[in-house]
Amino acid sequence: MPIAIWSDEYSVQIKDIDDQHRGLVVLINSLYDAMQAGKSREELGELLGSLVDHTEFHFHTEERLFRVIAYKGGPEHVAEHTRLIDQVHELQLNYESGQTVLTLEVMKFLRTWFTDHITGMDKRAARHLAGHGVR
Ligand SMILES: [Fe+2]
Repeated sequence: MPIAIWSDEYSVQIKDIDDQHRGLVVLINSLYDAMQAGKSREELGELLGSLVDHTEFHFHTEERLFRVIAYKGGPEHVAEHTRLIDQVHELQLNYESGQTVLTLEVMKFLRTWFTDHITGMDKRAARHLAGHGVR
């Protein structure tokens, strides 16, 4: 059973962003499946690393689009990205140092970390992007 399920309510109607968001859902679920299957610390650490990498790549995609249209909400959105990436970096550091183990609670945190951002700020930004012809 996946912990995060893609739904149309998450779509921001911009293909590249939706595709990358779907990729994040896949990675969160892979991590959850591996956790449930009792995979090794090393494997879980690698999956967590992939999630961090994809998140950074994805945020850069959005931020590049914000610069293209000189989005006024850009600075606030970028600050939120920084806060979100700091949270997963902290989780990664704590995991690697053995201070944190992956639990259902941590996975629920990651799910909310993801869905809150895309249903709030990303949808708002996407409306501006669409208004500038970004599809
Ligand atoms: Fe965003």
